[in-house]
This record gives sequence, C-alpha cells and structure tokens, in this order.
Amino acid sequence: MTDTHDTGSADLPVALVTGGSRGIGAAVVADLSRTHRVIAWSSGDADLADPASIAGAVADLGLERLDVLVHSAGLAWDTPVQSTDWEGWERMFRVNVFGVAELTRLLLPALRAAHGTLVTINSGSGHRSAPTMSQYCGTKFALRAFTDALREEERGRVRVSSVHPGRVDTDMQVALQESRGNTDYDGSLYVRPESVAAAVRFAVDTTEESIIEEITVRPVRG
Ligand SMILES: NC(=O)c1ccc[n+]([C@@H]2O[C@H](COP(=O)([O-])OP(=O)(O)OC[C@H]3O[C@@H](n4cnc5c(N)ncnc54)[C@H](OP(=O)(O)O)[C@@H]3O)[C@@H](O)[C@H]2O)c1
Repeated sequence: MTDTHDTGSADLPVALVTGGSRGIGAAVVADLSRTHRVIAWSSGDADLADPASIAGAVADLGLERLDVLVHSAGLAWDTPVQSTDWEGWERMFRVNVFGVAELTRLLLPALRAAHGTLVTINSGSGHRSAPTMSQYCGTKFALRAFTDALREEERGRVRVSSVHPGRVDTDMQVALQESRGNTDYDGSLYVRPESVAAAVRFAVDTTEESIIEEITVRPVRG
C-alpha cells in the first residue's frame, strides 16, 4: 500500500518520494509533509529494479499533476572490482539508475502539467570514484549524467535538481561502515538526514524564475 502523508487538503501540491520509508527519503517526507500531500514509497510499493512494478504503481496513482518527485531510493555496497559479479552490477544499476529513468519517464507528463520540480538524491560519489566503490560510483556518475541531460531537456517546463550528500547517518551508512570493519559507529560524525531534507526543501521552494541545479551537503569533519 502506498503510504500517503496527507496533511489535510486535497488542494495541496502533491509530492512523491521514493525511498520514503527510511533514511534520507523519510526525512524528506517529514519535511515536505508540512506543505504537500506526500506519497511515500518503499520497495513494497514499487520495486525500482522491475519496470512492470514501476508501471503498475504509477498507474495505481493515476496522477494527472505532480508538483514534486524526489528520487531517494538507492542501494550501496563495497566490492573491489576483483570480487564484482554481473548480478551485482545489474542489481545496483537497475535500482539506482534504470528505475529512476523509468519512473521519471512515466511521470514527466504529470510533472510538466504542474511545472513541477524533480530532485535526485545523488552523492559525492557522483563526482569522485573511490576504491571498492566502482559499482556505486558508477551508478551515481550515471545518475548525474541522466539528471544533467534531463535538466536541459525540460528547462522551462520541469525544474531538475541534484543533491549530493556526503556520508549521512542512515541504515545505508551503518551497513557500509560495518562492512569496512568499523565496529564503533558514531552517527554524530555524519550529516543528519534532516539536513539533506533541508537541501531538497531549498530546491523545491526556489522562486519561479530559478533552478537550484546542484547542492552538496557534506559532514563538517569531511
Ligand atoms: N547514507 C549515505 O551516507 C548517503 C550518502 C550519499 C548519498 N546517499 C543516497 O541517498 C539515497 C538514500 O539513501 P539512505 O541512506 O536514506 O538509504 P537507506 O536508509 O538504506 O534507505 C534506502 C531506501 O531505498 C529503498 N529501496 C531500496 N531498494 C529499493 C527497490 N528495489 N525499490 C524501491 N525502493 C528501494 C528502501 O526501501 P525499503 O525500506 O522498502 O527497503 C529505503 O527506503 C540513496 O540514493 C543513496 O545512494 C546516501
């Protein structure tokens, strides 16, 4: 079931947030719910690795207008190239890139109808690659290529913003640190999900004549 955080009026602008069940996406849902009717998706609402699941979920929504689409769902893990396999490449690209592209394609008419805003949650890994992160960085570089192309295609119709967090205190970061042998996880070292949500809010609230094209949010301690 799609989780709708209805803040009251059917006249409110509508936002859809993928990955809305946890982490950054959940913080975005909480923040946007102050001003929008927010539809929060988890993997149970639409498996972004599966085009049929995406198409079914979009059809169920039946949206003619969509004011905000935030792509937050994503996968991340460490794998040195020597240990990668075909399935891992495919799984991560399906969720982090192909699912974003397909969901965007299906919702573009509704976004255009509302002169809406689309935000992708990218990463510092969308700009810099690193050891053991060829798959994750590969997907985030690809996501940036997608976002940059879409921004120019839709200029004047849909505003397209890219948010690039550094390390954020979420389940994803806990799992990454664990896999790197960090048994002393301290979430206070990392950006809070609410701080990323504030960057999304900035992109959504920007005035009619401007686009926040790209924002980076990094931990103070690097
Ligand atoms: N955490 C960081 O340090 C960090 C830094 C930079 C960028 N990011 C990016 O920020 C975004 C959110 O990350 P996060 O840290 O909030 O992650 P998270 O806490 O691990 O949450 C991941 C979210 O993605 C959803 N998801 C996973 N697989 C899916 C699938 N196949 N179909 C649909 N939804 C799926 C999950 O849904 P379920 O709850 O149903 O599993 C969950 O809502 C990601 O794109 C990530 O790459 C994160």
